[in-house]
Amino acid sequence: MLILGIETSCDETSIGIVEDGEKILANVILTQTEYHKKFYGVVPEIASRVHSKLINKIFEKALEDAKISYKDLDAIAVVNQPGLVGSLMVGVSFAKSLSLILNKPLISVNHLYAHLYANFFLNPKPQFPYIGLIVSGGHTLLLVAFSLFKYEIIGTTLDDAVGESFDKIAKFLNLGYPGGHIIDKIASDYKKNDYVIFPKALLNDKKNIYNFSYSGLKTAVINFVRKNPDYDIKKIVKGFQISAIDILYEKTISLAKEKKIKNICIAGGVAANSYLRKKFLESKNDFKIFIPEKILCTDNGAIVAGYGYQKAKEKLFDDLKLEVFARPKGGPKEYLKLS
Ligand code: KG4
Ligand code: ZN
Repeated sequence: MLILGIETSCDETSIGIVEDGEKILANVILTQTEYHKKFYGVVPEIASRVHSKLINKIFEKALEDAKISYKDLDAIAVVNQPGLVGSLMVGVSFAKSLSLILNKPLISVNHLYAHLYANFFLNPKPQFPYIGLIVSGGHTLLLVAFSLFKYEIIGTTLDDAVGESFDKIAKFLNLGYPGGHIIDKIASDYKKNDYVIFPKALLNDKKNIYNFSYSGLKTAVINFVRKNPDYDIKKIVKGFQISAIDILYEKTISLAKEKKIKNICIAGGVAANSYLRKKFLESKNDFKIFIPEKILCTDNGAIVAGYGYQKAKEKLFDDLKLEVFARPKGGPKEYLKLS
């Protein structure tokens, strides 16, 4: 079965084509960094304009890369939540038009399910139940996955998302945008163990045992820089990254121990971080750690097509009334309830 996957929830315009949920035939990703970097953040209006301007070309390129005709597609999968409403609407309208013209089923995909699905391109594949950690620019979620369609959120961030904190610190330190991979590069090029120790928020907070908080860490970094304006940036950046990632590691491993679950899947843009990958993959414990290859960590169409295939197998189709949602009602704990 050939599924087309469309991702336009934020600032990546991407279309992937995947065969039977695992063979990636095409994954065209246009990252809009150039359009947003002078604002140090994604400007929603610009993002939707760029999506609508380029989506057609990206579709054509995806067909060309996959060496197929649009007539060969079996279904059209598209992210309809959560995300920027205007951006989501571009992808969903494009998907509806294709579904109507080609007379092929339309499949809605929750962006967060798609991120987690990136781990199912690995071999061997994760086994259910698994502990999931979604770390991106918009989300920091700790959860238990019981199946491809059933998840329970255990913890979330009380303020900033972890990726957002990387972006904000990079902005504050004038390092550029988006901050994640810039901070990652500076910290990994600096090999010494002499760095600033920042707090690990909520590490021993019994009321928030599985929740996260990143705004305190951001403030700690800002205060430190204000007090020590000439301090070596590398030592600050490395210290920030270690605090930001270690807390993810500590809480994920304690949840896995508490639930006695052996498989752990990490997903989302921050899963591309080299220190995070090292920390989880080289840790000496009995867990089976899954982290997608870097290109599948950040937003892309292949993970949407992959998850779309799983819905297609169950005949979980949508109709042309499909709506978009910035965020599902009920707050973060409800994010994974809608599909
Ligand atoms: O999943 P994603 O592409 O988009 C959202 O759904 O948010 O994640 C983007 C986030 C950004 O905050 C970016 O700075 C962060 O992922 N990111 C990283 C790295 N690469 C991307 N953070 C830390 N280290 C990286 N190597
Ligand atoms: Zn994402």
